[in-house]
Amino acid sequence: MDGSTLTTLTQDVPSGSPGAVPAKRLHVITWGCQMNVYDSARMADVLAPLGYAATEAPEAADMVILNTCHIRDRAAEKVFSELGRLRRLKDAREAEGGRMILAVAGCVAQAEGAELLARAPFVDLVFGPQTYHRLPELLARLDVAPGGPAVIDTEFPPEDKFDHLPEAAAPQGITAFLTVQEGCDKFCSFCVVPYTRGSEQSRPAGAILAEARRLLAQGAREITLLGQNVNAWHGAAPDGGTWSLARLIRALAELPGLARLRYTTSHPRDMGADLIAAHAEVPALMPFLHLPVQSGSDRMLAAMNRKHRAGDYLDLVGRLRAARPDLALSSDFIVGHPGETDADFAATLDLIRAVGFAQAYSFKYSPRPGTPAASAPGQVEEAEKDRRLAELQALLREQQARFNAGCVGATVPVLLTGPGRHPGQVAGRSPWLQPVHATAPVRLIGTVVPMQIAAALPNSLSGTLVPESVPA
Ligand code: 5AD
Ligand code: SF4
Repeated sequence: MDGSTLTTLTQDVPSGSPGAVPAKRLHVITWGCQMNVYDSARMADVLAPLGYAATEAPEAADMVILNTCHIRDRAAEKVFSELGRLRRLKDAREAEGGRMILAVAGCVAQAEGAELLARAPFVDLVFGPQTYHRLPELLARLDVAPGGPAVIDTEFPPEDKFDHLPEAAAPQGITAFLTVQEGCDKFCSFCVVPYTRGSEQSRPAGAILAEARRLLAQGAREITLLGQNVNAWHGAAPDGGTWSLARLIRALAELPGLARLRYTTSHPRDMGADLIAAHAEVPALMPFLHLPVQSGSDRMLAAMNRKHRAGDYLDLVGRLRAARPDLALSSDFIVGHPGETDADFAATLDLIRAVGFAQAYSFKYSPRPGTPAASAPGQVEEAEKDRRLAELQALLREQQARFNAGCVGATVPVLLTGPGRHPGQVAGRSPWLQPVHATAPVRLIGTVVPMQIAAALPNSLSGTLVPESVPA
């Protein structure tokens, strides 16, 4: 999960029952991980029956939601600068006698709701990741007192939000996300997630299977199961027992229409033998795994409260590759965690060389208020963090380039997901999540076709259709 990305909700959201409710425009800006992207889409689903349809233009919006990320500090700063820009639009609307509701959602709202309102009192609505199913209620409270005090709801409610969300109104497309698990009980020293998303919760298997069937009926061919600690998922089974993620994957793989399955993000300690076996035995499960290790130093892993050693990670990678020899790995890394020495950093580089990653995200340690590492001794100088990050990223870039170059000449199954940038081009993705561009008829979009990889670019591949594989 890369907390620095920004996504604008662009798909058209049907406006519930047009005519019955006045049409209103909703603009959602999303920072952070895929779960936030998923949540933003679900917020639009909740608001659709109230007459809200998506708009790409914030100046045309009756309501703007900033769905925020708190994982590292720059993300929160970006929220405040965006709020400054939106305030001008809101003021302009009010000067014309209109109204624009400004809402802040997500993990910054959860962690710093009250401070946020103190710094940005023009915000109307603040709600956390676990309360957006209450949006109609929150808006009703706001309607009672327009211009009055802000409405804030950052509870961890007793009810499960998923039981109160309407069915998805807008199809996600050929590749879809499905949240199966939320929250985390791991309490890594540096991380705010256990505080912002709350404790680990698994959705029941029946609800997940029903949502997967809907996604497939809407045209999805690839489903990525989402969770902060997705491989810790253990949900109520349709037969009354409890399933592991491996069992859920096996059930999902049976669904007609499903071509590909993925899951993210995993913790090394929850990689059970049955999940490793699923990688060997379930063809729909793609041979690409995001398995963050954070550091290659045992001393740092202990300081981070990761509860495993570098050697455990290497063993695990060995077992996964024995199960699925073409499995490629991705990870997250943090440089400059408090106490990290040159020797610790060198151990991380050694681990990276030993594993060989296809792709990775890497970050400078960023102190998060309220987390143990923020007040730990041995905070590392910013300039040293910069130096380590540059060295680490150079190695990871080299590995990614090597992995991509290794695909050239191979024939790989590519799921075609949409038209490409140029006429006659289509875009797709490989089993290892690399974007692939090719010249192919658009009628093949939505199918998995064999492609011969002709060239590797730093972040994508280009391919040519294997002609005899194309259906007439
Ligand atoms: N500073 C830097 N990176 C962090 N991450 C989580 N918390 C912090 C922090 N305080 C990174 C971890 C995690 C990813 C989602 O973000 O690498 O796996
Ligand atoms: Fe954060 Fe650690 Fe939980 Fe991942 S496992 S969400 S890094 S506390």
